[in-house]
Amino acid sequence: MVDRKTIDEINEKTDIVALISSYVKLERRGKNYFGLCPFHDDNDPSMSVSPEKNIFKCFACGEGGSPLRFYQKINNVSFNESILALAEPLGIKVDLKVDQRSPTTKEHEVLEEVRIFYEYYLHNSETGTTALKYLEERGLDQEAIEHFNIGLAPQKDAVYPLLKEKGFTDTEILNSGIVRLSQNDYRDFFNYRIMFPITDERGRTTAFSGRALGDATPKYYNSPETSIFKKGETLYHLFKAANEIQRAGNVILHEGYFDCIASYLSGVKNTVATMGTALTLEQAKLLASYTKHVIIAFDGDNAGVNATLKAIDVLNRINLKIDVLIIEDQLDPDDYLKKHGKKKYLELFKTNIQDQYQFIYETTKKTLNLKNANDIIILKETTRKMLTKASRLVKEIYLKRLSKDINVSLSSLQDVLKAAPITPPPKPLKKKKTRPLPLKYYRAENFLFINMLKDKATANRIEQALGGLYVCDMDMFKLRSLLCFKFYDKYDEFDEQIFKGIIEQEKDYEPLLDKLNEILTSVEFKSQFIYNEEQIDGFIEVLKQINTEKKYRSILKEIKDQNESFQKALLIGQQKDYKIQLTKNKK
Ligand code: UTP
Ligand code: MN
Repeated sequence: MVDRKTIDEINEKTDIVALISSYVKLERRGKNYFGLCPFHDDNDPSMSVSPEKNIFKCFACGEGGSPLRFYQKINNVSFNESILALAEPLGIKVDLKVDQRSPTTKEHEVLEEVRIFYEYYLHNSETGTTALKYLEERGLDQEAIEHFNIGLAPQKDAVYPLLKEKGFTDTEILNSGIVRLSQNDYRDFFNYRIMFPITDERGRTTAFSGRALGDATPKYYNSPETSIFKKGETLYHLFKAANEIQRAGNVILHEGYFDCIASYLSGVKNTVATMGTALTLEQAKLLASYTKHVIIAFDGDNAGVNATLKAIDVLNRINLKIDVLIIEDQLDPDDYLKKHGKKKYLELFKTNIQDQYQFIYETTKKTLNLKNANDIIILKETTRKMLTKASRLVKEIYLKRLSKDINVSLSSLQDVLKAAPITPPPKPLKKKKTRPLPLKYYRAENFLFINMLKDKATANRIEQALGGLYVCDMDMFKLRSLLCFKFYDKYDEFDEQIFKGIIEQEKDYEPLLDKLNEILTSVEFKSQFIYNEEQIDGFIEVLKQINTEKKYRSILKEIKDQNESFQKALLIGQQKDYKIQLTKNKK
């Protein structure tokens, strides 16, 4: 990341007239220069360049800003790439690693054509009038519609012939993801949806998200992942927000496209949004190359709070300052704005920001009954986990707070300061049963299942890794399968009642329900903290040894029963091999 001072220096030292002149013919009129604006279809010179202020501005389309902004826009490169390009001739050293990705491909060109078409269709069709009314009702003005390049996909398929006419091949069209082949027909991927173009860091259109105009489900969906579009590496609006992020020194991270737009309308322009999935490490790294301060502004409901906790966890893997915007009444930013207005919304950024520690501590505390010993343990554990990377001062603050809240002396809370073990071993379930296999496998299986309950993506990942291949407890295996194949295929967030209903459809469901109840009341399940992928992978590895373990055990038994000494020796040899495998895998 580059600091503000360096950015200012680059802008100040770059001769804007010289820079723009190499792209556009400029003519001097008084103090300023004028030329045809390259960012819209300009016939009459409407772009002015002020050498005095070192900025450009187009009076027709509104585009304008610093030399860096001009360079970024005209070359379709990321903000960081512009910094590198303009810093070099000035001899300014910047510490930046820029991802030099492939140049603009045919797929980008296809999607750019489609974007232009969708925008045109929104403004020039009968259905467009309905869509514009919808957008207007949601508070969007013309400027916002243009800024976000919002368009409309027609009801009837239209994209394929249009692209053919432009000379693209079937392969190029299909590879862009915007047309799909269905029984030898080329069908539009989107019909009758409000279209949000998704761009990469360089402003190239890489995908679309479409919102239903009526009650069609799903409400939103994205065009498929392609060679140029990876959902987990993309952030909505990042390209256009780059300057504002630099200016503000921070970024507002939203969950929804409309929240991003609503913030923009209220004047908060340094906003990006995730793509409807949990924040990924790649997205976090991408953000970190623009700023070191992230303000999470997710929905105020339970799902939003949980997503915030997860995002904090991901962002903490990189060194970032993390704050959270608290939105009351379970509202999302867009709804809050609609209900309370711009002024109140902007005030939230002054009054309702919590740092990550405050947020984790207080949200956890709110859900607990601190007269209950189990709940006290949860708060203590959550605090310990959250403090592992915190500064000494923060540690002291929260140790004191915890000591007061749970009415325990400071000195007996010293273990809270100890670093968390890499994989805190979950406690075994209460019921004592004879266990034919070592406890660690049952623990691993339980732990993984708890994480599957907490997050759908994690559930699918674990299910893929384990399937029916690595099973310790048969009931756990059944629960795991039901969760993935009967629950998560319809729902995104775990719901106890619905899941129990699904279990009750099974033949021998009682032991399954018992097991589930044990898990739902366990401390591990109730605690707010989210385990990271490494920890989960650790447990998957443990469970993957189960088949070797079973073989090892059955051979042990065979050895005991075998009287023939030659056979016995053979078995002992095999047993040793398995033993070696098991100890080797331990590392
Ligand atoms: P929300 O359901 O919170 O929608 O989804 P929203 O942002 O409030 O949308 P409006 O205001 O009703 O229009 C948040 C984000 O989750 C993704 C989208 O990225 C959306 O912006 N999402 C949501 C989907 O991908 N599919 C869906 O069906 C719903
Ligand atoms: Mn909304």
